[in-house]
Amino acid sequence: MPLVYITRRMHFSAAHRLHSDQLSEQENEQLYGMCNNPLGHGHNYELEVTVKGEPDPATGMVVDLTELKEIVQREIIDKVDHKHLNHDVDFMHGIVPTAENIVIAFWRQLKDKLPNGELHELTLYETPRNVAVYRGE
Ligand code: NI
Repeated sequence: MPLVYITRRMHFSAAHRLHSDQLSEQENEQLYGMCNNPLGHGHNYELEVTVKGEPDPATGMVVDLTELKEIVQREIIDKVDHKHLNHDVDFMHGIVPTAENIVIAFWRQLKDKLPNGELHELTLYETPRNVAVYRGE
């Protein structure tokens, strides 16, 4: 049976501050620059969720994209949209919210929630130029 990768793109806006408790104030400022701004700053994020599987012979679908959209909305977007990632999101607590760490946290939120197909890849666009990809490894 042919294996197909199917992707749903979602959007959210959120604030964050890059600051590591393992570094001094000065090291944080030097490393993260403007992204260490004490009260944070915002991004318009794009999240691509890619699921792999064989299309169901009866429906022609790997996963129902409407159902996938609702799951991603409930498990991730509703919890992070218009929130401060350092303060408002329980599953991000204690994590420096770089694009890398965000995409790993999202994977853990989502991996066991899919009804069909297998979660293959998450791609998080922090800006159109800064992108993090995670495949659960
Ligand atoms: Ni930022």
